[in-house]
Amino acid sequence: MTKGAVDIGDLRRLARRRVPRVVFDYIDGGADAERTLRANCDVFDAVTLRPRTGVAVPSIDLRTTIVGQSFGLPFLLAPIGSSRMFYPRAEVHASAAAGAAGTGYILSTLSGCALEEVKAATPGPAWYQVYLVGGREVAERAILRAKAAGFSALVVTVDTPVAGMRERDLRNGTSALLSGNPIAMLPHLSQLLARPRWLAGFLRDGGLMEFPNVVLPGSGAMKYESVGPALAQSVVTWADLRWIRELWPGPILVKGILTGDDARRAADAGADGVIVSNHGGRQLDGVAPSLRAVPEVVDACGDRMAVLMDGGIRRGSDIVKALCLGVGGVLIGRAYAYGLAAAGREGVTRAIEILRADLVRTLALLGVGSVAALDRSLVEVPAEWTSRAGVSVRV
Ligand code: FNR
Repeated sequence: MTKGAVDIGDLRRLARRRVPRVVFDYIDGGADAERTLRANCDVFDAVTLRPRTGVAVPSIDLRTTIVGQSFGLPFLLAPIGSSRMFYPRAEVHASAAAGAAGTGYILSTLSGCALEEVKAATPGPAWYQVYLVGGREVAERAILRAKAAGFSALVVTVDTPVAGMRERDLRNGTSALLSGNPIAMLPHLSQLLARPRWLAGFLRDGGLMEFPNVVLPGSGAMKYESVGPALAQSVVTWADLRWIRELWPGPILVKGILTGDDARRAADAGADGVIVSNHGGRQLDGVAPSLRAVPEVVDACGDRMAVLMDGGIRRGSDIVKALCLGVGGVLIGRAYAYGLAAAGREGVTRAIEILRADLVRTLALLGVGSVAALDRSLVEVPAEWTSRAGVSVRV
């Protein structure tokens, strides 16, 4: 069904056709005026590639090592909350597709499938993303379960002290639809009825989900409608990070870093890596596009810890540009979420395939045989990216 998709934009169109508007906009939309969302993609246009011609590249090696773990591809699947609304048992399908393709899957705290099932579905590495919804005790239980299930790193997201203002969700009546109250839902139900195939799958999969990895004392798995209020009380501070450091012996990556100063704070709190990210433009609108923040963070602590990035990646050449700027790997979010919404596991596999083929071709055209050999000599960046008050940025 997604075989004919040539690029990620095609998967986006297929997703739009299969899922109701309320679900599509949840995936596709960003915060406020969506300035950062747009800039995350547009910023890649400002970086141009400088190929080495006249070089024979007999084979291309896409392997990479991040926090001591090996991946067959230089991109992992980002944590995407509520994926199970896109497709039945979506997190299991996404992790299986990632593992089969030789890469890693990062499971959101806000997953509709139990973390044990998601890990069991993949032969590859799986990481667990932590929100402190429900408080430290609830998170501690999930972290210990993740350890027992074989998750090999934690990703602690620090850019969500409250949920961002997603205007599309308000217009679509998202919270009314999630309330389960038939009278509140009524004005918005036509969106769901317009997608009968999706609706049938959603109902067969159990309908409005719970979050089985957020087990609240006394009341069990957190209900869907509690997400907003729970997120609003789940700010993660540096003190929390030090607490998580004591709990978890393996690698910890801090996600949502946009400045060199915060990257150094993360290292001081015991993190093994940072993910330069603005949550795909879904939290604070108006912050820098992620790629723009990469040189500062790499210069601040690229020699002390792993630096990854996400935001706006829709093509293999976007991944190559980020790697040339010094990150050890990237996460893809919507690029695979569109595939998941379009066709479940098959759609995720297609998204990964599109990006893998893009990477191989781009490296061959650049005259470079491996992702390990990518460096800043292969890109040109705008002059103002190379210096900043008080910070010298090597290019
Ligand atoms: C996200 N993201 C996210 N991040 C996180 O740490 N926990 C989460 O539960 C979610 N949930 C989520 C849902 C949806 C629908 C999207 C699109 C994104 C952010 C995600 O991990 C990643 O940072 C961005 O998606 C990267 O930007 P691109 O690749 O989507 O442009």
